[in-house]
Amino acid sequence: MTEQQLPVTLRVNGVRHDRTVPVRMLLSDALRHELRLTGTHVGCEHGVCGACTVLVDGRPARSCLLLAVSVDGHEITTVEGLAGADGSMSAVQQAFRDCHGLQCGFCTPGFLTTISAFLDGNPSPTETEAREAISGNLCRCTGYENIVRSVLRAAELMREGAASDTDVR
Ligand code: FES
Ligand code: FES
Repeated sequence: MTEQQLPVTLRVNGVRHDRTVPVRMLLSDALRHELRLTGTHVGCEHGVCGACTVLVDGRPARSCLLLAVSVDGHEITTVEGLAGADGSMSAVQQAFRDCHGLQCGFCTPGFLTTISAFLDGNPSPTETEAREAISGNLCRCTGYENIVRSVLRAAELMREGAASDTDVR
């Protein structure tokens, strides 16, 4: 029996993609294999590690637990969408670089998307809040200390950016 296919509109990083995909295709597979956005990594494939985290309408979601057809028309942001239009790094990306928040980098896309959404809602987190925010993401390399520092550094960079925007006005 051939698998049923359905049309879906995937809006990813501001670009619209119309595709027809198998109804059971995961969003993680659609991103990586249909759209070739391989920044989204797949680790455990059952919702535990957080490597596959993307933003759906600005909120973190495990793309390995979502069917592509279930996000029809929603706004999806992958790690590729975090940088500025000119390729400049976002505050969170810059902070990971500054604080050595990654080693092998496999987990990093999931951390970057998770932290970006977290800081949007909490621009001045405490260290405890930063730890809580990343508690759903697993890293096998860094031991989390530098990732926590990265969260706090990113918050600082964002506040500095907001302050300099205000100065210009
Ligand atoms: S690959 Fe999705 S949570 Fe691990
Ligand atoms: S940097 Fe290697 S798994 Fe996190």
